[in-house]
Amino acid sequence: MSYHNPYTPPRKSATFDDYTLAEIRRAAATGIYDIRGAGTKRKVPHFDDLLFLGASISRYPLEGYREKCDTSVVLGARYAKKPIVLKTPITIAGMSFGALSGNAKEALGRGATIAGTSTTTGDGGMTDEERGHSQTLVYQYLPSRYGMNPKDLRRADAIEIVVGQGAKPGGGGMLLGQKISDRVANMRNLPKGIDQRSACRHPDWTGPDDLEIKIMELREITDWEKPIYVKVGGARPYYDTALAVKAGADVVVLDGMQGGTAATQDVFIENVGMPTLACIRPAVQALQDLGMHRKVQLIISGGIRSGADVAKALALGADAVAIGTAALVAIGDNDPHWEEEYQKLGTTAGAYDDWHEGKDPAGITTQDPELSKRLDPVAAGRRLANYLKVMTLEAQTIARACGKNHLHNLEPEDLVALTLEASAMAQVPLAGTSWIPGKGGF
Ligand SMILES: Cc1cc2nc3c(=O)[nH]c(=O)nc-3n(C[C@H](O)[C@H](O)[C@H](O)COP(=O)(O)O)c2cc1C
Repeated sequence: MSYHNPYTPPRKSATFDDYTLAEIRRAAATGIYDIRGAGTKRKVPHFDDLLFLGASISRYPLEGYREKCDTSVVLGARYAKKPIVLKTPITIAGMSFGALSGNAKEALGRGATIAGTSTTTGDGGMTDEERGHSQTLVYQYLPSRYGMNPKDLRRADAIEIVVGQGAKPGGGGMLLGQKISDRVANMRNLPKGIDQRSACRHPDWTGPDDLEIKIMELREITDWEKPIYVKVGGARPYYDTALAVKAGADVVVLDGMQGGTAATQDVFIENVGMPTLACIRPAVQALQDLGMHRKVQLIISGGIRSGADVAKALALGADAVAIGTAALVAIGDNDPHWEEEYQKLGTTAGAYDDWHEGKDPAGITTQDPELSKRLDPVAAGRRLANYLKVMTLEAQTIARACGKNHLHNLEPEDLVALTLEASAMAQVPLAGTSWIPGKGGF
């Protein structure tokens, strides 16, 4: 006879939680995997797990009015005749026209230009709006070669060879048929309305030696003027950084697993790649081992949200950061203003990630002309510029409190970790101790 214990409430499994059960049922009902945009939604060790120490008796803060704290950064001085000079180390990451509307791309260009920083094209090529409104524009050279145009290589201020992305290292992008408008199809030289999968590897190389040849080719095409970046997803950051440097990169862009994507399989986003925090120190170590730290610049991306995140990435040794998701939020993505429409799509502001469907109420991740019109690129550009300004000031405030007259003078010594995981990954001591897991101490 079974016995019902009246004292113990029904207990759900931590392994088979409600979300997991719903996903199993969804897969069973539809037979297709889930595709979505954005980055990982699970909690992984992150910049929140680090704290700055600030000044004390042994450290001297900067005095407010008289002492300056510089935020500028030069990218690409290793070989390029025309390196890029930015007023802030916060750049806008590559996001494709196709995934984003023309107005959204224009807004990113406008905002970045006001703030004195760069923006980046993406899978799908360079639009005139984007070039026209971006003072400094980085042109992505991608495995898909969608929208690739040798003339645009010369119109760009720098070139970013994309090997991978943090949300999907080893995977390619997706753009579903509903977003392939006439213009997108024309730029990509592919049929309208048909799903597109971007290639996951470059057609003409299989390893670092081919990358070296490709970098040389791009330098020749652009008269050795433009910095060449190499972007990789956070997988094997020590070796990837070392190989990119060996192949001749001026700048390494390293994108951790929290990095956003326009669309890919959920299982990929949640299970492949390393957290951003875990990527930085190995990459910096590779640069230091090669005597290239601060000579080849390191741009970190994947989950950067605030000036504190920027300051922490720089303190760990990065030269600059790139933002994707946060820039989209600044221009109006997932804004509660559109809550009623999010509800109709079966979601809510803050959780909307079906960017591949092209139904974005905010007019950002869509090619629908009526929805796109909702985004005013001038006002949205101003919002992005405000946000970039606030983040820069926040990072500067922290650097000043640590006594640094340049953001690049922040160092691991300024940080402590709140958790063992963050301590091990960032290689800074656990707060209140001098202990770093794996490094000994007292
Ligand atoms: C809508 C969207 C489109 C993207 N398109 C591209 C792309 O075309 N090429 C690329 O290298 N990365 C692309 N990414 C990734 C970003 O360049 C960047 O690595 C990532 O967004 C950084 O993480 P964050 O979103 O947390 O800031 C895209 C990201 C988003 C959100």
